[in-house]
Amino acid sequence: TFHILKQRLGSCTSEVNTKRRRALQIVLSKLKMEKHRSMKLGMRYLQEISLESLQKRIPQTLGDLPWNFLRKILALNGTARNTRLGQGALGDQASSEENGGQGEGGRILYHSNMDTGASLHPLDILCAVLLCSDSFLQQEILAKMSMCQFALPLLLPALDTPMCTLMLWAMRDIVRRWRPHSLPESRGFREESLVLIKMPTISFVRMGNCSFSKSQFLNELLSPSQQHHDFFIHRDMESGNIPREIADGLVEIAWYFPAGREDSDLFPEPVAITNLRGNIESHWLQFRFLSEISSAVFIVTESISEREYALLSSLQGSTSKYYFILNYEPEKRSETQEFLNKLAPVLKLSKQHVLEKETGTEKEEFMEKLCSVIGSIMKDHDKDMNVEAMAVTARELKIQFDEDCEECDRASNRVKEITAEIKDVGSYKKQLLKLQGDLWKNLSKVEIEMCKLKGQGDIPTEEYKSRLKERLLELRTQQNQCGLTDGLTKFIDGIGTLSQMEIHYFLKCMKFHLDCIARKNLPNLSELDETISDSPLGVEHFLRELGQFYEAEHSMVKEGKMVKIQRKFIHFPRLAADLMLEGCPMELMDGDVSNIPLQWVTDVLKELHTKLGGRSKMLVLTVLGVQSTGKSTLLNTMFGLQFAVSSGRCTRGAFMMLIKVSETFQQELGCDFILVIDTEGLKAPEVAKQEDNDNELATLVIGLSDITIVNMAKENITKVKDVLQIVVRAFLRMSETGHKPICQFVHQNLNDVSGHEKNMEEDRKHLLAQLNETTKTVAKMEKLDKEITFSDIMEYDPEKHNWYIPGLWHGNPAMAPANTGYSGSVCGLKKHLLKFVRQRSLKSTPKNIPQFIEWVKHL
Ligand SMILES: *[C@@H]1O[C@H](CO)[C@@H](O)[C@H](O)[C@H]1NC(C)=O
Ligand SMILES: *[C@@H]1O[C@H](CO)[C@@H](O)[C@H](O)[C@H]1NC(C)=O
Ligand SMILES: *[C@@H]1O[C@H](CO)[C@@H](O)[C@H](O)[C@H]1NC(C)=O
Ligand SMILES: *[C@@H]1O[C@H](CO)[C@@H](O)[C@H](O)[C@H]1NC(C)=O
Ligand SMILES: *[C@@H]1O[C@H](CO)[C@@H](O)[C@H](O)[C@H]1NC(C)=O
Repeated sequence: TFHILKQRLGSCTSEVNTKRRRALQIVLSKLKMEKHRSMKLGMRYLQEISLESLQKRIPQTLGDLPWNFLRKILALNGTARNTRLGQGALGDQASSEENGGQGEGGRILYHSNMDTGASLHPLDILCAVLLCSDSFLQQEILAKMSMCQFALPLLLPALDTPMCTLMLWAMRDIVRRWRPHSLPESRGFREESLVLIKMPTISFVRMGNCSFSKSQFLNELLSPSQQHHDFFIHRDMESGNIPREIADGLVEIAWYFPAGREDSDLFPEPVAITNLRGNIESHWLQFRFLSEISSAVFIVTESISEREYALLSSLQGSTSKYYFILNYEPEKRSETQEFLNKLAPVLKLSKQHVLEKETGTEKEEFMEKLCSVIGSIMKDHDKDMNVEAMAVTARELKIQFDEDCEECDRASNRVKEITAEIKDVGSYKKQLLKLQGDLWKNLSKVEIEMCKLKGQGDIPTEEYKSRLKERLLELRTQQNQCGLTDGLTKFIDGIGTLSQMEIHYFLKCMKFHLDCIARKNLPNLSELDETISDSPLGVEHFLRELGQFYEAEHSMVKEGKMVKIQRKFIHFPRLAADLMLEGCPMELMDGDVSNIPLQWVTDVLKELHTKLGGRSKMLVLTVLGVQSTGKSTLLNTMFGLQFAVSSGRCTRGAFMMLIKVSETFQQELGCDFILVIDTEGLKAPEVAKQEDNDNELATLVIGLSDITIVNMAKENITKVKDVLQIVVRAFLRMSETGHKPICQFVHQNLNDVSGHEKNMEEDRKHLLAQLNETTKTVAKMEKLDKEITFSDIMEYDPEKHNWYIPGLWHGNPAMAPANTGYSGSVCGLKKHLLKFVRQRSLKSTPKNIPQFIEWVKHL
């Protein structure tokens, strides 16, 4: 037996690998992706706004397929995996996004006779795309796939590498939330990074032939009772029956998470289900890995003969539990049973370990039985592990994993040095991020007072101002006397000395570690309580601290207390500008004390302008609205951005991110970049929040923006009213400066958008009346004596400036896939906005960075 195995494994490494490599070559060439085998695709490239962003794309050739998958998955389109060519025109119901858009978006002829056989299997596309993507794009792809509830690749077959690869890093950015039955009383739920959740894994593999689709069968197993969902691609799906060329040997993984409903949850605790593509005989290494990590392995087969017996006998001594799902080939029944009997002592099989799935067996009955078997396996908990632990097993088997690279190691070690010091977030902030403590709070009070002069009393203005200035200088001097702390020095070293790739890893690792610490610090989350704790600690706090050091030093120089050549922090803006170019969100205004570090922001933007070679015309797009209504998710889905979204980390303050417009599209769109500003929720329930903060935030970001998206949440009418008031007031104040941005209302979380034309009409009327009303109220509050209507202060057309988006999730939250309607509407909104941008560019030229800076100062 050992000999046979050795032979098999031997052949695996040479002949099979050569064959595989040839197949890969052919697939990549068909997909026109050869050059990305070495020059990997990255997020930045996919974020670029191009003409294609405005077009309806239907893949016509094999070369379109990778791009089709990438664009769709990043936009959460549930049809992303479909590889049919020439389709789409059929399903093109010219949805509302296209109204009035004839001639737009290059309609392509529909090839009704296109042979689907000419396409490729979706899993081949997935493997090829992942192979051609850098680690960060891979991470994004898997995060989006997870939101669509698609199974994820756990082991990527050995394509460009000698062995298969465990996708640990690629899954790091995924966070899941569920409610185990062991936690019902508190009504809380648990939230954790997916790769850290310890749970049992149940594996399903095929030996020899199998007449039914294992993947389809697993979909049925995992699907909630009322709705079917295709976690795994299966042969009865469109394009699912195309033979695989490179994806054999892929191991996929999907999860079941309970929602805390004892009557309808399939299992009381989370469980992972893996699925090996191909025959175990050809993928023995993957099979061994699965045996090691799984609580149980289910072998699906229709017959066992001498050959299979020999193969399985080699598993003697394995600590895994093996089960068989038998779909007998009739004439081999007795032979199979005979060998099963012989295997029984070897694999410690008992009667319960053999499940017969005859063609006639009632499906429900069989599923119930299987569920109960899995349920009992789960009770053992003896092999519960998380994906991180799987990486250890992988290494023992000489399977590589994606974090096993120098860049990742180096960056991750640096991060650990910083985060190891963090025992308690509160005290860490106090001791190591000193400049943003009390000093900063007081300082920002003084700065605000310098504008408002509220506490002036009888003191003459000039004298009052000069007192405030003195106080300010005093505080800045105190700030300047603080030295860089150890943690901060390490952070600066990180972003300042690592290579570009390492910095990416560094920032990501930093985020993962800090989020992890934050989760441990969080009280148990509760759905009922929408209060989300203060953002505990993020990369933004480190950057903010740099900003404060910079500000303090700058004022010392300005006041003649320091000579220029003594400056130690003069290079900080360059570091921050680099990060911004790499897609890191930059804080414009914080959410704690509403301070704008003006000098810092100015100098960072100036650096940016220089780095961009002076070509920095940008259109500014802002989103505002009630807290926790998915503003960041909206922007992330629309533009492929990465504003922080996990719960417990809602956006605080205002952050900006830069999106490049592709070279070929700049002229038409009239700008080089789009600057997206994400803001914290207005009317957030935090106790310490003052009305003023909301107003200031809104005034600032509306003032800066060319297009303002106001996210309306249906659920909370009073909040919507409050938000409208804040928004209208900001628009009113802006109108005094002559600035009049476009306002786009987004109505989110509607259950069914399509069937409610009439309601929408009502809605629009209602909103119009509300705006009319609010404008009057606000005008009165602001003591304006002239008659004013909302059309005087904002560019708003009820027909064109309302957008309806259904809720993000479809069904039970723990297992819900992203709603298909969500992706469609967001995609439509994006096109709609870009159209505005185009039109607007005809009327006025967008500001470049220096003009933008002037404008920030003015506001
Ligand atoms: C699997 O099916 C194919 C085609 O039906 C057949 O040629 C082959 O012998 C079968 N293999 C086994 C192990 O039964
Ligand atoms: C900040 O202001 C408060 C009250 O105004 C004062 O008690 C405190 O000492 C000040 N802190 C610093 C560091 O200046
Ligand atoms: C949260 O729930 C877990 C599990 O029930 C419990 O062990 C833990 O102590 C709780 N944490 C807090 C802060 O209440
Ligand atoms: C706004 O209110 C005024 C007076 O209350 C009314 O005349 C006008 O028709 C309203 N406009 C809209 C668009 O509702
Ligand atoms: C997904 O993409 C297809 C093909 O482009 C399109 O027809 C469909 O409307 C999109 N669906 C959603 C939900 O966006």
